[in-house]
Amino acid sequence: MRAVWITKAGGPEVLEVRSSPDPTPGPGEVRISVRAAGLNFAEVMARQGLYPDAPKLPCVVGYEVAGVVDALGEGATGLEVGQRVLALVRFGGHAEMVCAPVERVLPIPHDLSFTDAAALPVNYLTAFHMLFRVAYLRPGARVLVHMAAGGVGLAVLQLCRTVPEVVTFGTASAAKHEVLREEGCTHPIDYRTEDYVARVRELTGGEGVDLVLDALGGRDWKRGLGLLRPVGHLIAYGFANLAGGEKRSLRRLAGQFTGVPVLSPFGLMNRNRTVSGVNLGHLWDRSDLLREELAALLDLWGTGAVRPRVDGVYPFDRAAEAHRRIGERRNVGKVILVP
Ligand SMILES: NC(=O)c1ccc[n+]([C@@H]2O[C@H](COP(=O)([O-])OP(=O)(O)OC[C@H]3O[C@@H](n4cnc5c(N)ncnc54)[C@H](OP(=O)(O)O)[C@@H]3O)[C@@H](O)[C@H]2O)c1
Repeated sequence: MRAVWITKAGGPEVLEVRSSPDPTPGPGEVRISVRAAGLNFAEVMARQGLYPDAPKLPCVVGYEVAGVVDALGEGATGLEVGQRVLALVRFGGHAEMVCAPVERVLPIPHDLSFTDAAALPVNYLTAFHMLFRVAYLRPGARVLVHMAAGGVGLAVLQLCRTVPEVVTFGTASAAKHEVLREEGCTHPIDYRTEDYVARVRELTGGEGVDLVLDALGGRDWKRGLGLLRPVGHLIAYGFANLAGGEKRSLRRLAGQFTGVPVLSPFGLMNRNRTVSGVNLGHLWDRSDLLREELAALLDLWGTGAVRPRVDGVYPFDRAAEAHRRIGERRNVGKVILVP
């Protein structure tokens, strides 16, 4: 089978399409013939050597796929050869074939395209998990989401629309604001030309917000904490500020790490604040929970509340372009790779 290999840490030119023997499904696993695979920000960071969870290089990354079951391992029940599915895989998704345990594979409706199905798992699970499991989003809440025009950001905006009267503040570059408005963002903010903290304060009459979803990290976590009104909640779920260019920069890394806020239970108690962390990749052993949330998302897809916005579809031999699209911050929504 062919797969997109990260041959070493570096720019998009380190990607290579290589062939290797087809994988064999182990006990309780199915093999999926991949029709579409999601490309995530984390995988671009992995290529840059900035993602601690990535497998040892050289490697094939990829957390999510959609395709057709083409072989069953011993004792794999509940799925059939030929069935259309989506799956969460802990790496190896950017390949023509990948094996996954049955509990992380879900059948998909016949009218959900492979491309859209591959855009659902990581972005929408992250958004859903943060809003509904960790934060318990309530009607009327004020939510600030950074990177709002990215895959997770748009998923957050769509899911916020399922709760009445939620007010959303989304940071993104100005060219992406029209899309943010289409997706229901109440207040798009161009963080490149204005101070988002000042703007949120102005828009909320100085009060701040109830929930900050921050995958920027570093100093932005500190700024987000300052924007919480009492009983506010900040969820840290990424550190994109580390990945400022195509390659690793030690100066940028040091600057961002020194900006990380130091928290104490006393401070949180006295200010009535909650800080949580979410890392989907570290929830792999909770298949029960991930499956339940994925099933809820497929139901929401059925009602039309959830509609992945696919930015572009790239064949494996153009994977470098796909990585550049994310690395240069040009994508609006999801970038998909197809074999
Ligand atoms: N913890 C988890 O389980 C989990 C799961 C999925 C994703 N994440 C994290 O969530 C974040 C968003 O992921 P995504 O898939 O939605 O990304 P994405 O689709 O690639 O969107 C990224 C967009 O964010 C904006 N941005 C703002 N500041 C940025 C910065 N410092 N570096 C890079 N981009 C910046 C850029 O748009 P403009 O600047 O043009 O507005 C960029 O196009 C990433 O940090 C990712 O690692 C975490």
